[in-house]
Amino acid sequence: MLPSNAQRMDSKSARARPSSAREKNSVEDDVVLSCQRPIEHQFKTIIEPFRVKTVEPIHRSTLDERITHLRSAGYNLFKLPSRAVLIDLLTDSGTGAMSSAQWGAVMVGDESYAGSPSFFRFADAVRSLMGFEHVIPTHQGRAAEQILFGQMCGSGDVVPNNTHFDTTRANVEVLGAIALDLPCRESRDSSLASPFKGNMDIEALERAFEEHGAQRIPLVMVTVTNNAGGGQPVSLENLRAVARVCARHDTPLYLDACRFAENAFLIREREAGYEDRTVVSIVAEMCSLADGCTMSAKKDGMANIGGFLALSDGDLARRSKEQLVLSEGFPTYGGLAGRDMEAVAVGLWEAVDEAYLTYRVRTVAYLTDHLAELGVPVMQPPGGHAVFIDAAAFAPHLSGLDLPGISFVNALYLLSVIRAVEIGTAMFGRFDADTGQEVAATRELVRLALPRRVYTQSHVDYVIEAVGVLYADRDSLLPHRIVEQAAFLRHFTATYAPVMFDESSPCP
Ligand code: F0G
Repeated sequence: MLPSNAQRMDSKSARARPSSAREKNSVEDDVVLSCQRPIEHQFKTIIEPFRVKTVEPIHRSTLDERITHLRSAGYNLFKLPSRAVLIDLLTDSGTGAMSSAQWGAVMVGDESYAGSPSFFRFADAVRSLMGFEHVIPTHQGRAAEQILFGQMCGSGDVVPNNTHFDTTRANVEVLGAIALDLPCRESRDSSLASPFKGNMDIEALERAFEEHGAQRIPLVMVTVTNNAGGGQPVSLENLRAVARVCARHDTPLYLDACRFAENAFLIREREAGYEDRTVVSIVAEMCSLADGCTMSAKKDGMANIGGFLALSDGDLARRSKEQLVLSEGFPTYGGLAGRDMEAVAVGLWEAVDEAYLTYRVRTVAYLTDHLAELGVPVMQPPGGHAVFIDAAAFAPHLSGLDLPGISFVNALYLLSVIRAVEIGTAMFGRFDADTGQEVAATRELVRLALPRRVYTQSHVDYVIEAVGVLYADRDSLLPHRIVEQAAFLRHFTATYAPVMFDESSPCP
């Protein structure tokens, strides 16, 4: 008969180690371990903190197919059928993989028109994390923006923001108000590795109050992380300074909180005094400085659809709910199914999970660092959800009105079947009111946005290789011109055409 485990451990350990070593060992003597000195190793390899339960095949099309797709999309990747894309980095919005816990919650979604328990779970999650008393569900972030600005702004008002995202800007401008971007100075240099390039320029905010007067500034908004400004975080120090200016002028402060968890994690990583704090406590501190927030749950809500407006002001909440009933639905579902609210209620907590955030932020840093090693001009330091490439520096032979970002994303698609998005003149260019001439955007960026929990390291390695190949051939990128465009948010639907360098001969 074999000796029992306890007997084996006893005899082996007695032989192998002197009794003093045994006494020091905190492991109880009758527990069997597989090695003499178990070690707590700090692994350098950061793994995806999940395993795959369901797979979705992706396909590489032929070059001929890609050319056909690109032409019929009017050279606008927003108009491609997604099955014609191999790796889709167009957006991190609504494209994440839900967890088994979220899918489980979906199954208990209650579809009652009024008073659904799914709403109460949703509102509890928002309240517990963010602390705002009133929670108004919407079908996505821009609906929350529309309701908030619709209640607070009118023609001629000015809304300062560190940087408005496209839908936020459009929702301000459609009311005849001015969307004023006040990014900090460091954000202008894309290669500068300053930790909080998402910050708002406090002096510029003070000047805006002096210039326009508090009565014309119904609210100030801070976008965390600053998406259009490169996915860069905003520090708590900066948020506190913005809150102080707002308090002095008796003006409410709202967060565009789409990526609140990534912002909080980057505060913990980069801001002195926060290294030992939990992400949850940093989120609470960020929100405690604000009067409310708009949220797209398609980002750090880890859901495929959803959003909310959360706020402390009871009167504004009442008026917002009246508006909600007109455009979104009854206040206990907004534009959402009970199932969606359940997915968000679980997803919000998953978004602040520290193992997840470590993997998330490291993936962005891995892609940034490898592209930088190849010489690709990437925005530094790495942000929370995406890598931003400076298309103007990538293709210096193209001016802003040549749409270098559009040229980059189209060429990357033809080469590698990867879809990225331009954040430059196609998205943010404007027409000068006096001259009628088109003015290029201040920056020409291309964003490679990483959907949450979707792609693995080998997908990211493929992206690195593809961008490297394109970089080696960057002189061949052609100018593009806009053929057709809409008045608002033109980048979604515009059609473009590549032109030869002398402009006399459009490309075939
Ligand atoms: N605010 C920010 C900072 C955003 O990034 C977005 C969406 C919105 C508001 C609007 O939210 O899409 O739910 O209506 N950004 C997506 C993107 C579309 O690709 O960055 P939504």
